[in-house]
Amino acid sequence: MRMLVLLTIGIAIGALCGSMATRSIAMTHAYPRGVMAVLQVRLGNARRALDATPACDPDLARSELAALAGFIPELSPALEAHKEPRLLELSRQMQAAATATTESAEPANCAELAERVAQIAHACDACHQEYR
Ligand code: HEC
Repeated sequence: MRMLVLLTIGIAIGALCGSMATRSIAMTHAYPRGVMAVLQVRLGNARRALDATPACDPDLARSELAALAGFIPELSPALEAHKEPRLLELSRQMQAAATATTESAEPANCAELAERVAQIAHACDACHQEYR
């Protein structure tokens, strides 16, 4: 009888630990995936503003680019859970690209804005080539 009780307690504790581990692994991905989803939408908005027909609206494209760049600081904290030094280095490079975009003089026209958006998209791809 005693053995049966101990066995039952053992199984219950094992199941609990297992589900806690699964939850924590799921959370490791939930945060970065959420941030990535927002980045994806904002990148899409910026591209759509640039590709608008009949003509690109520079004011809209500029504000979409600012919205995209403004969310990039969320990247590093979201990727910290992965505990990969290289990943954090790549997200710092992405941050540098975003800071350069926001701090340098306002791009005057759609061609310059498109160049900035392409730089950010390139930094997304650079990291995805190594991780994803
Ligand atoms: C420093 C590295 C890094 C950068 C920069 C980066 N990503 Fe990611 N991305 C990842 C990783 C890692 C994953 C996988 C996340 C996970 O499952 O934990 C990912 C996954 C994604 C996903 C799939 C999410 C899902 O639900 O599976 C999308 C979409 C995405 N990234 C978009 C972007 C966009 C857009 C940018 C640029 C604005 C960007 N990423 C920049 C590392 C990066």
